[in-house]
Amino acid sequence: MAKILVTGGLGYIGSHTVVALINQGHEVCIIDDLSNSSLKVLDGLEKITGKKPDFCQLDLRDLEAVKIYFSNQTDIEGIVHFAASKAVGESVENPLLYYHNNLTGLINLLKCTAAKNFIFSSSCTVYGSPDDLPITEDAPIKPAMSPYGNTKQIGEEILKDVTLANPSLNVIALRYFNPIGAHHSALIGELPIGIPQNLVPFITQTAIGLRQELKVFGNDYPTVDGTCVRDYIHVMDLAEAHVIALQRLLNQTNEDKFEVFNVGTGAGSTVLEVIHAFESVSGLKLPFKFAPRREGDVIEIYAHTEKANKVLGWKASRTLDEALKSAWLWECHVRNIS
Ligand code: UD1
Repeated sequence: MAKILVTGGLGYIGSHTVVALINQGHEVCIIDDLSNSSLKVLDGLEKITGKKPDFCQLDLRDLEAVKIYFSNQTDIEGIVHFAASKAVGESVENPLLYYHNNLTGLINLLKCTAAKNFIFSSSCTVYGSPDDLPITEDAPIKPAMSPYGNTKQIGEEILKDVTLANPSLNVIALRYFNPIGAHHSALIGELPIGIPQNLVPFITQTAIGLRQELKVFGNDYPTVDGTCVRDYIHVMDLAEAHVIALQRLLNQTNEDKFEVFNVGTGAGSTVLEVIHAFESVSGLKLPFKFAPRREGDVIEIYAHTEKANKVLGWKASRTLDEALKSAWLWECHVRNIS
């Protein structure tokens, strides 16, 4: 078992991946700047795993601090890199924040670490609006639809180039589809700051009474019911994909020094299907109304998962209902309602 650094390890996907790594027997240390997370997450991690991971509050843009961190942590064998900003709309308003945080952070990490195994948090957003569905990893990378999406494309390019120049570095980029849900204990989950931009946290906050109603962005798309289609994946399935990808690098069974995998379920659901599934698992009626299309939304995207299934040996196993139920339990836990 190895010592693994998780950057952004107190964030949404990071914290669930910490659980999955510890469950697998790895020793985990966490860096997080707490810009979109809370120290309370450490308590949740300890309750779930019985272990308190080593934690350092650190901003990866601070090169000197990153150097000092790695001079004290010389035995890190692998890095799972989540630390980044992720709000599409905010990235359009403040592109420099996104280029600085997401790219300088990555570069500083690569400059300072001697770890040979690196998992990069990428996104299906790199595909833009797809020509063919389900989308495969070799589909063309289209011009990014936001600065956020661009940082994911450039991040992949940086890593590809660095693996060519650095004989000991191996990288797997995981292109996530739409992560939702929470750990079944409801001790960790997604906690957006301010008004949620993503569908499921908006649904759960509406159901609990924090928001008046959900706006469904567009009902005139060319899909089965007129609403957009996404591939919603349970965050614990996604977390486990990181552990398996990391193990592939630790075992040196990777075929290329830079590999890319889609991490989705392979099935698409419309916004209305998600709403109705939520209503059935929660037993509640969700107030919603149709609103104009949201700028930048692609009509339909879901993953071709054969590469991840066959090459990585990973497959999503949890259902949309399970994911929505866990998201709802988490929302109730956060608001102290049982
Ligand atoms: C996008 C990016 C994803 C990124 C994520 C981070 C793509 C394909 N996906 O996900 O890579 O990590 O943002 O924020 O670029 N919706 C509503 N009402 C709402 C909120 C959402 O109807 O209040 C609809 C959207 O129009 C969309 C679906 O729900 O059809 C999912 O939206 P969201 O959860 O925001 O995720 P994406 O935009 O797909």
